[in-house]
Amino acid sequence: MSTLLIENANELVTPEGRHALNGHAMAKLRVIPNGALLSENGVITAVGTTEDVRRQLRQRQSDRSTSHKLNFESNCQSDRSSSYKSSFESNCQSSHELSCESNLPSGHPTSGKLSCGSNFSSDRSSSRQLDLRPDDVIIRDDAITRIDATGKTVLPGFVDPHTHFVFGGYREDEFNLRLQGASYMDIMRMGGGIAATNRATHAASEEELYAEGFKRMDRMLDLGITTVEGKTGYGEDTATEDKMLRVMELLDRDHPVDVVKTYLGAHAVPPSWKGRSGEYIDYLIKEGLPMAAGRAEFCDVFTEEGVFSLEESEKLLRAAKEQGFKLKMHADEIEPMGGAGLAAKLGAVSADHLLKAKDEDLFAMRDAGCIACVLPLTAFSLREPYARARFMIDHGLAVALGTDLNPGSCYSQSIPLMIALATIYMKLTIEETITAITLNAAAAIDRADRIGSLEKGKAADVVILDCPGYRHLSYHFAMNLVDTVIKKGDVVRRPCDRNC
Ligand code: NIG
Ligand code: FE
Repeated sequence: MSTLLIENANELVTPEGRHALNGHAMAKLRVIPNGALLSENGVITAVGTTEDVRRQLRQRQSDRSTSHKLNFESNCQSDRSSSYKSSFESNCQSSHELSCESNLPSGHPTSGKLSCGSNFSSDRSSSRQLDLRPDDVIIRDDAITRIDATGKTVLPGFVDPHTHFVFGGYREDEFNLRLQGASYMDIMRMGGGIAATNRATHAASEEELYAEGFKRMDRMLDLGITTVEGKTGYGEDTATEDKMLRVMELLDRDHPVDVVKTYLGAHAVPPSWKGRSGEYIDYLIKEGLPMAAGRAEFCDVFTEEGVFSLEESEKLLRAAKEQGFKLKMHADEIEPMGGAGLAAKLGAVSADHLLKAKDEDLFAMRDAGCIACVLPLTAFSLREPYARARFMIDHGLAVALGTDLNPGSCYSQSIPLMIALATIYMKLTIEETITAITLNAAAAIDRADRIGSLEKGKAADVVILDCPGYRHLSYHFAMNLVDTVIKKGDVVRRPCDRNC
């Protein structure tokens, strides 16, 4: 049993629920002064004031010690005492040997960098720090990691529900062309853009894509992201798409950040299919979807003028749905194509970008329960007007925020800048913004029942901020305030991992 207790937080702050919050409900956060959280085996088992949570922990320990005792007696009776003893001894040993390092997944590259800081303690001596009554017992095989969050703020781990973080090569030349006036679509028409990344991704080995992806995920963790959605879409053939998917599967296995995978075969029309986008869609239905089925959870499409039409998108998405995929769309990013309306009609989990989405399509999304995933870092990078997130919330939609990390339109995974743009320019309150990067972002990848809030039964994915209250997230703008990151009850980022 691995147990983690975070206590004495100046504020513990979380949205609540197992579904997205719509409209003005997004502003409703639970704020617990002097907050605490208990995680057992990676799952949250108590949230409340420090006093409450300690009381619950004591109760559990005494319950467990009673059942342990009973167990022992029955083991003796059935003459299995020797096996109990040896397992007891080995448990006892591991409890003595426990250090902060043992909380990291084995093989994680940061494990060597860790050392126990003064606000961390773990082992049986925590009975004193927990202020237990003298007759309380900490079960001997039950090591507790305790984090003193005095002066700090505790939030759910951030969820990034829209990225293209696995790719080969870079496109800094295009970025500079754009600064001089070229548009994203001009560059695409000139054979650059997504096609350029496709060539580099084709040329890159699986190992290279893995190594770069791993580094990007380390940065995400530094910024408090504990779950990320990642898309394929830089393969012009099924083999390259398969390679991208395999890299994400390995990264999901090896890195503490969870990866939710999306198949985006319909990201650009490859040069060899120029003028035949309809046939390319047929190829994806015949070869791409079966390759990705059961591996990628979502199917996405870039519905845009000069890329894939509404009709082509619908054909692909309907086929994907039949093959078991949940749906997402890049909708109404550059031209008002009606993608948001299609997402609502097909029951997509989210429609993303939405810079140019029409009112009636947004209302259809609201009525269909489709999450509006807005990506302000992309609008910032392209110097486009931001999506109308304030309007969406005022009209009852559930809004999520994502970074859209990719090598072209948005080479940034900066959660701090995204929060600054959402609050300063898109006019979301900080409370709405927090819901948009936690519970609603989890809903945008169909995970709101498991992550996105600090509630009993959800995964213990937690960020601790080095600031006295959640409002500092917007006030101390564009700064990374993340102090410690916890994934499924394990400490996976410590302050010194970023700075030393
Ligand atoms: O979400 N709009 C299409 N796809 C990405 C950009 C991908 C790229 O430029 O490499 C986006 O912005
Ligand atoms: Fe995107």
